[in-house]
Amino acid sequence: MVQATPFLLVLSLALVAPSFSSRKCVLTGKWINDLGSNMTIGPMNEKGDFFGNYTTTVTVNKTETRTSPMLGSQHLTKEKSQPTFGFTVHWNFTDSVTVFTGQCFVDELGNEVLKTMWLLRLPENNINDDWKATMVGTNVFTRLHSQKE
Ligand code: BTN
Repeated sequence: MVQATPFLLVLSLALVAPSFSSRKCVLTGKWINDLGSNMTIGPMNEKGDFFGNYTTTVTVNKTETRTSPMLGSQHLTKEKSQPTFGFTVHWNFTDSVTVFTGQCFVDELGNEVLKTMWLLRLPENNINDDWKATMVGTNVFTRLHSQKE
């Protein structure tokens, strides 16, 4: 019994430690949404700002797509465990822009889920057409895990 105690202690630490070390809801990494679009978010700086890239599966005019740059920021998880964030995608195959805002949640299974709303601004030639230039919607993103994990 005396010998088993240190063993059990080490075992329980080994089981519990990963949940301490894997910081949930730091957005860095690869994500896929309910439309099948993918985004890769780069490292966060000390303020929570980040760069990334976004590949959409759908477009308004069924144009050929290219992976497009995105720029965003999130509240840091030290302060909030389920942080809010926002990012802008500058589409590089058309003249539109999408802004996303949302929050990262950890669901009951421990999975990170990004619940977002977006505004997609399309260019119009005439000011009188401004009323029809903005689309709104929602997307849900989940993390794409690499094979190594
Ligand atoms: C365009 O067609 O003007 C640019 C591509 C827009 C893709 C939109 S952004 C919101 C929604 N979520 C996606 O992943 N793709 C579409």
